[in-house]
Amino acid sequence: MSHKATLTIDGKTIDLPVIEGSEKELGLDISKLRDLTGAITLDPAFGNTGACTSAITYIDGDQGILRYRGIPIEQVAEHSRFVETAWLLIFGRLPKQDELQRFSDRLTRNAPLHEAFKHHFEGFPVNAPPMAMMSAMINTLSCFQLEFLQLNDAEAFEEATARLISKVRTIAAYSYRRAMGKPFMYPDPNMRYVANFLHMMFSEPYQQYIAPKEVEDALNLILVLHADHEQNCSTSTVRMVGSSKANLFASCAAGVCALWGPLHGGANVAVLEMLEQIHRGGLTPEQCIKLAKDKTSGFKLMGFGHRVYKNFDPRAKLLKQSCDKVLNRLGIKDPLLDIAVKLEELALKDSYFVDRKLYPNVDFYSGIIMKAIGLPVNMFTVMFSIGRMPGWIAQWKEQHDEAGARISRPRQIYTGPTLNDYVAMDKR
Ligand code: ACO
Repeated sequence: MSHKATLTIDGKTIDLPVIEGSEKELGLDISKLRDLTGAITLDPAFGNTGACTSAITYIDGDQGILRYRGIPIEQVAEHSRFVETAWLLIFGRLPKQDELQRFSDRLTRNAPLHEAFKHHFEGFPVNAPPMAMMSAMINTLSCFQLEFLQLNDAEAFEEATARLISKVRTIAAYSYRRAMGKPFMYPDPNMRYVANFLHMMFSEPYQQYIAPKEVEDALNLILVLHADHEQNCSTSTVRMVGSSKANLFASCAAGVCALWGPLHGGANVAVLEMLEQIHRGGLTPEQCIKLAKDKTSGFKLMGFGHRVYKNFDPRAKLLKQSCDKVLNRLGIKDPLLDIAVKLEELALKDSYFVDRKLYPNVDFYSGIIMKAIGLPVNMFTVMFSIGRMPGWIAQWKEQHDEAGARISRPRQIYTGPTLNDYVAMDKR
């Protein structure tokens, strides 16, 4: 079906091309609007702006649907491991056995960090936020093997991708070891992606940590569910930085910074702090709901609400199931889970949340799982950044390969003073 859009401004009418996506969503192409009318569109926070076309991830926020390259997230979560999911997102289809093996071998080869990194880690204070270290260290990767700053062939791109996905795991574990004053543990080439990360986090030189299967599976699920989420704040940041032709490492380092904020990836930390506050008796769940509804309080129910989902976040559903499973298998009775369930129950029958279509998001249950498997709270957002890395890389690549792509450069409506003369110091 063809669509037609016209816009009349000050008596002048123009036709706007309508772009239709593969799931029938419509976008008005306003790229010639300023040339034709002198006007621009204004959409603060981009709630209604498509910044690109993309074939990677599809979300229907009203129905609570998320798909990677067309495959429903529920199927990906059930059948795929993180490394395969990364390949799917980046290269556009599920890998064949030999492709997956080759990628997996690249990850293994790339897991160790250059020894110079140890000195970088030593330069940080022991209480440095791990997200600051993560961003700095990803940028530092730009300083080694300069041939990966120009990714103009498939082989170099796949190698750079493997470097990034593999080394972020080592960087994350080293930042934790640094904070704990523990020796760095080298990656073990015989271990799978998640198990290897847990080994680098928790092994001692005299005793190797072997993660229980449930723990490995739960962390694998968290990474898979975080792997991409189309044009969110950090991904848009990666694309924005990448549009200047900045290299892959610099672009992804910027993504980590964007993810750090409590309204984005940092929400998983804020959720746990909120649940702990309630547990310590600082706040009852009922008071917490009341506070979240009070616009003057500045308080939000963390882990609730989403710019795109106006229904259950499908990732939250999967994580809630995983949470029950992990806690049961590990024999942990965490009162924070009971508080979370109570908050969810109260919110879902409260007209404030119902009317605004505020549901639990991916961060609501992920923190409880990460706490149960022994990850410290300040590593939660770091885990998110490891998970999101394939998505950032896939989006960077898609933009990089786009014919005729231009640097991203939004405009503004200026509201400052009109022409105004400079006033000499003695006349002010
Ligand atoms: N608690 C209380 N009220 C909320 C919440 C919340 N968590 N989220 C949204 N609202 C309110 C808004 O104040 C607004 O109220 P109003 O209509 O009376 O002005 C209404 O619900 C609609 O808000 P949105 O426009 O849908 O929110 P927006 O798109 O600007 O923000 C966001 C989305 C940032 C996720 C917001 O819901 C929030 O701050 N949630 C808590 C933080 C969080 O969990 N972030 C993680 C998001 S998922 C991720 O990044 C991985």
